[in-house]
Amino acid sequence: MSQHSRAAYAATSDTTAAARHLVQAHPESGRLPRIVLEPEDIRDFLDETAHITTRSLEYVPYSRFNLTEVVQRVWGDELIQTLYRLIEDRYSGGFMLDISAATTNDEELIRFITALAHAIGTPDNDVLSGKFYARLPVRSQDVTPQSSNLFQPYRTFGMHTDGAASKNPTTDWLVFGKTHERHVRGGRNRLLHLDDWRDVRQFAEAPQGRKPFLIELPPANDPRQQQWGNNVRSEPLNRPIFFDWHGHLCARFADQFIFPRSIEDAAYLRSFVESIESDPKVECVTIPVGAMMFLNNNYWLHGREVFEPHPELYREIVRMRGMLHAHQSFPVINGAA
Ligand SMILES: [Fe+2]
Repeated sequence: MSQHSRAAYAATSDTTAAARHLVQAHPESGRLPRIVLEPEDIRDFLDETAHITTRSLEYVPYSRFNLTEVVQRVWGDELIQTLYRLIEDRYSGGFMLDISAATTNDEELIRFITALAHAIGTPDNDVLSGKFYARLPVRSQDVTPQSSNLFQPYRTFGMHTDGAASKNPTTDWLVFGKTHERHVRGGRNRLLHLDDWRDVRQFAEAPQGRKPFLIELPPANDPRQQQWGNNVRSEPLNRPIFFDWHGHLCARFADQFIFPRSIEDAAYLRSFVESIESDPKVECVTIPVGAMMFLNNNYWLHGREVFEPHPELYREIVRMRGMLHAHQSFPVINGAA
């Protein structure tokens, strides 16, 4: 358990009119807690924000923070501070939140996720959509061998961090929200916290651990880049896999974007993948429709199980990711810090 006790995050609103939130253990994760909100409070948020359409969220950036303002009004600053602390806390590095008792409507989920995301940080322009969020479908039909692993239901999607090739210095957080699911079995998220990874010291302290590697996205004519929409071109980067962030050991890793220049470096990368894929502490979590998972992308590696074959399998998640707001720049709304 971290020095920050989970109990410290349980906030109630005894002294204000703000709705309460609770932080409880999650049955599938040893580290990620779940935040529990009352369905009627979520409904209040959704009703109060019903006029903010997905289209206006895409076209008018300030409207995204207007959603966060409503979160602040319904649940108070305590919830926003809880979100931030759970993401930043080394032990938990994230949280789960299920609002399916209030809604499973995809537009409402996007509003709610957008509101929480903007409470902790401004999302990046997503490489797959060219927008601040991306819808990521997986279906059994129309999958070709050239398809990116992200869209391949019947291949294991290897452990990685997001934004490894982003020009931003770090991609601190990500959120996956489940919007649609039909004929789905399997396909759970696989997670490994760096502090649970048995071999982390061995790989961090190896000569390659802090050595800059060439990091590059596929070229424009690569089928993956074409499937992703060719939305973002990035300059090649030279970056180490391991780095420090707020005094903590962190990693950024995506095997398909790292270009070794020697047999030794390639062997290191192969061993790295074998180690994270086989670690006994990899945990699998389920995100039902109407639920979401926020992760600290600097602390956690994530991947996905294969799905069980079904001819009509369909699943969609909404993704956002970005850097955390600096401490002093929590959204300041109505003079509240
Ligand atoms: Fe990912």
